Amino acid sequence: MSASIIDGKALALTLRDTITQEIQTLPRTRGITPGLAAVLVGDDPASAVYVKNKKLACEKAGIYPQEHRLPASTTQENLLRLIVQLNADSRIHGILVQLPLPSHIDTKVILQAVSPEKDVDGFHPVNVGRLVEGDPVFVPCTPKGVIHMIDSTGEAIAGKRAVVIGRSNIVGKPVAMLLLHRHATVTICHSRTKDLPGVAREADIVVAAIGKAHFVTSDMVKKGAMVIDVGINRLADGKLTGDVDFDAVKEEAGWITPVPGGVGPMTIAMLLQNTLESAKRMAKK
Ligand code: GUN
Repeated sequence: MSASIIDGKALALTLRDTITQEIQTLPRTRGITPGLAAVLVGDDPASAVYVKNKKLACEKAGIYPQEHRLPASTTQENLLRLIVQLNADSRIHGILVQLPLPSHIDTKVILQAVSPEKDVDGFHPVNVGRLVEGDPVFVPCTPKGVIHMIDSTGEAIAGKRAVVIGRSNIVGKPVAMLLLHRHATVTICHSRTKDLPGVAREADIVVAAIGKAHFVTSDMVKKGAMVIDVGINRLADGKLTGDVDFDAVKEEAGWITPVPGGVGPMTIAMLLQNTLESAKRMAKK
């Protein structure tokens, strides 16, 4: 039997509706309009599309959007100056610096410059530490979306064996931490893992975040397992595809997320949610 599809697009739309409704009440109830600044350095086409989609989503939800586009030749000092300015801007409750940054810029220095109170991506070391402690301020958007998708199935996470394939700071590590906090037994696999297919086959939940098209094949998936595909890869014909060989794996899995229409839309919904949370937190202070 073919797997049930976890429809990220539909889940994200429902979340965005709820967020939009709450945002509409804020000027009246709390005297605020949430604001998000998105910073894009250089002209990577994929990053430009992501930032455009995030800005559009903000506009639709009633979040005040600011977009800052800097040329690839921008100096680290220039970028730092902009961040200092955004940290001080009372209209802005969330700051997002789209990654990756050009190689002459030290990503760590930039992420540390963003005020932890406005770090809606959850990438500042203070927020990473809070997440590890199990007391997060901002949960990174893609990992938060992954957990929401798993929860939407009604399946428990506690006690399950979860295998995360990929160890990036943006997805692999935080998603593993969130699954651990939800009492899963978690293994992180990466390029040096011995017998990765064998490890993955033990999993009740597989999260694929490697960045390689169709890396996860049907022989890596236990019958009935839940497979969450975080990958967004562009094929030679221009089509988007995930890290999972969807057509083959859906015949083994119990649950599966598509690409497009899976994790991608959830990331944006979670960004809106984090910006809303940040604005409410600041209004309380
Ligand atoms: N690049 C890839 N994913 C992300 C993300 O979630 N946030 C930011 N800022 N950059 C990214």
